[in-house]
Amino acid sequence: MTLKPFLEPFAGRAADVPPAWIMRQAGRYLPEYRELRTKARNFLDFCYSPELAVEATLQPIRRYGFDAAILFSDILVVPDGLGQKVAFVEGQGPVLEALEDRADIDRLDPARVVEHLAPVFETVTRLRRELPAETALIGFSGAPWTLAFYMIEGRGGVDGGKLKTFALSRPEDFQVLMTKLEDSLVEYLGQQVEAGADVLQLFDSWSGIADADLFRRFVIEPTARIVGRLKERHPKVPVIGFPRAAGAGAIAYAVETGVDGLSLDSQVPLAWARANLPDGIVLQGNLDNHRLLAGGRPLEDEVRRIKAAMVGRPFVFNLGHGVLPPTPPENVARVLAVLREGGRG
Ligand code: CP3
Repeated sequence: MTLKPFLEPFAGRAADVPPAWIMRQAGRYLPEYRELRTKARNFLDFCYSPELAVEATLQPIRRYGFDAAILFSDILVVPDGLGQKVAFVEGQGPVLEALEDRADIDRLDPARVVEHLAPVFETVTRLRRELPAETALIGFSGAPWTLAFYMIEGRGGVDGGKLKTFALSRPEDFQVLMTKLEDSLVEYLGQQVEAGADVLQLFDSWSGIADADLFRRFVIEPTARIVGRLKERHPKVPVIGFPRAAGAGAIAYAVETGVDGLSLDSQVPLAWARANLPDGIVLQGNLDNHRLLAGGRPLEDEVRRIKAAMVGRPFVFNLGHGVLPPTPPENVARVLAVLREGGRG
């Protein structure tokens, strides 16, 4: 049986042309997404409408033929499912009613998550039917630390001081929150696999603000427990971790969490990654999203350089962080054309 090209690296094989997808491949840089987006009142409604979410997921697949589709949703559907107030404000990003004390944490209800997020599983089920047979489907969630960031800070664009102060000065309350998140995520991700996801990605976008002690306790350890519990349920489903801006912390993360793949941000030199990360782990990344936006020779040269740096190593081509809204869509097409020069071999 031949595997989908996306799954080849996870079987330990390096392809001449690595499989490719890009973070936020569905989104505002695509005119067809902006048009579709007008059909929902707000972003959460959009995420919870299987018809719209399926269409948004498929748009970049039709346009570019990526090797993987990523479920169209958001990491903040989990806090919403837990019962916290979450809104997406135009031009401002997510705004949450920040958790202030133990009573706020006690009100969060993991038992509510799966029921509330049923439309997401419905989207996955429909996608499995509608995607081309050779296209893998990636399910995802935020990792506990990054979800806790938004839940305690109430928004992005801040330095995480409130989160770290909470974690350090109220360790028992924080642990209750982290355990609720862990339990919710195992169930949420498990059900995405049961609905048809081939691969899972855990986004830890804010792991870079943790010092080494917090990184160990609240990035590595919860991730290891989640991956372990998912593997008991679905031993074969690859899990990709994205500990963004973790620096050298990526080594312990790769060795200790049990993830099958590691997504690298653009600051990680690929030669360092090859030399320091375990051979058995699939590397993913790490084109800079501003380079994608700028286009031209500097973009093409970098795509060739990344491909050359990863020859012979199980690798998935991606960005180091999500595609930026002003990115010209033709730059994405150019990246794939350059990556696939010389054919699949
Ligand atoms: O194509 C895909 O990648 C799938 C869908 C997806 C979205 N968000 C859609 C989205 C995925 C995987 C995410 C993950 C996500 N969401 C992360 C982790 C990755 C990262 O970027 O670090 C985080 C931190 C979030 C939280 C979030 N959602 C923020 C901070 C914002 C506002 C910033 C912005 O770009 O506006 C969102 C909104 C969001 N999520 C949009 C999309 C397409 C834009 C909202 C809209 O279209 O109205």
